[in-house]
Amino acid sequence: MTYWEPQSETLSRSELTRLQFDRLGKTLERAAKSPYYAEVFKRHNIEPGSIRGLDDLRRIPFTTKEDLRNHFPYGLLTTPIKEIVRLHCSSGTTGNPIVVFYNQHDLAAWANLVARSMFAAGVRDTDVFQNICGYGLFTGGLGFQYGAERLGALTIPAGAGNSKRQIKLMQDFGTTVIHTIPSYLMRFRAVFDEMCLDPCKHTKLRIILTGAEPHSEETRQRVQKLFGVKAFNSYGLSEMNGPGVAFECEHQTGMHVWEDSYILEVVDPDTLEPVEPGKTGELVFTTLTREAQPILRYRTRDLTRVIPGDCPCGRTHARIDRIQGRSDDMFIIKGVNVFPIQIERILMSMPEVGNDYLIVLDTVKGADEVSVQVEVRPETFTGSMDALEKLRQRIVRDLHDEILVTPKVELVEPDSLPKSEGKAVRVKDLRNKGCLSQQ
Ligand code: COA
Ligand code: AMP
Ligand code: ZN
Repeated sequence: MTYWEPQSETLSRSELTRLQFDRLGKTLERAAKSPYYAEVFKRHNIEPGSIRGLDDLRRIPFTTKEDLRNHFPYGLLTTPIKEIVRLHCSSGTTGNPIVVFYNQHDLAAWANLVARSMFAAGVRDTDVFQNICGYGLFTGGLGFQYGAERLGALTIPAGAGNSKRQIKLMQDFGTTVIHTIPSYLMRFRAVFDEMCLDPCKHTKLRIILTGAEPHSEETRQRVQKLFGVKAFNSYGLSEMNGPGVAFECEHQTGMHVWEDSYILEVVDPDTLEPVEPGKTGELVFTTLTREAQPILRYRTRDLTRVIPGDCPCGRTHARIDRIQGRSDDMFIIKGVNVFPIQIERILMSMPEVGNDYLIVLDTVKGADEVSVQVEVRPETFTGSMDALEKLRQRIVRDLHDEILVTPKVELVEPDSLPKSEGKAVRVKDLRNKGCLSQQ
């Protein structure tokens, strides 16, 4: 059995726990330097030095997306900007985005975790790695890029989109490993067919790394059949660096959470109490090695469970099951996170728009699609089709600027959308039955 870091990946449980609390102590000291945590510690009467175990850690309140938004942009920083070398942030033109800062140490540690993850899935320095993923502010782009470079693979920073060119790159350079989101893999395979190519015969592909959105085991099996190679699940979130938080090893029996870098808790999303071992709940993470912006007890809103027992690979770090869904209303489309409120804010800022709208997520010819049905105001019906079309186009443009994917927009008559009793249903997810519902 080979590991990227044999010692760190196979620590005994007691060694891992000791390391975690040693690192937690340093993390808390650093966190106290940020205006946000200094205030939290003061308000809750917490001396960083007094936190000595998981029970003590629970004295620290959870950190939420709202906390990050409310202390935008620099409230969680522990160092002067001079030491910060990069930020990543969420999409959106309305409201504050979630922003994550890294110093040199954080970037190096993150790249190492991604390298460790890729190695666990079987990627080696002899591989040619094509990253079919959004670069820029998405963490999946640069995160995998630097991780793969750290591993020593030849990297092709292909970015998202333009499937035919992706296939050409794969053929030209003999790509052996790709990383992309599961829903795009279906569309990607269809393009091979359109080009009368078979990835099994006409490429050197041997490994697929895929994640960033919920998908079922059935979807994985389908992907593996369509491409004739193994596909490994990759989990991460920007608040915890990005990819490289948890990753499947060659045994594909759940994702190892790198517990030397994150403390994992699983809580009931309603009571916020720990669930029984092995039961499904919401993942909560505390960073252990981040310097610029440590985050304590972060509520991810992602639901899954810790898989009991040991992994045959010999890695001792806990494994989590596939993400089952979310405890909030965020949905992920084409690898981009969207909150319905983002769409609502744009629509409700337009005087021509009525009170109701419906977001429909669907799979069309193998690709994810988001469409929005928008009620217009009675006064908006002036008899001019041209004016309505201009309004429609403006909505498409403004929504695209906000959520980064291009929605289909359909204007509908006032009061024509079905009204539900009780809480309005704003999102209908009709995507592939193979994929898990995110409702
Ligand atoms: N990754 C790679 N390619 C993607 C994709 C994704 N997540 N989502 C869509 N695409 C492809 C489409 O199939 C299409 O390719 P084609 O031209 O060969 O048909 C092309 O990108 C454009 O997609 P389309 O749906 O027409 O455009 P859009 O305006 O809705 O925006 C993206 C699509 C790709 C620009 C946008 O969704 C994006 O940036 N996604 C990347 C998200 C990401 O990488 N997240 C991090 C994952 S770790
Ligand atoms: P981002 O912060 O943009 O990187 O998005 C992080 C979110 O993407 C997570 O909180 C999850 O909801 C989702 N996500 C990431 N990886 C996976 C995965 N392997 N399976 C399911 N959802 C995932
Ligand atoms: Zn394993």
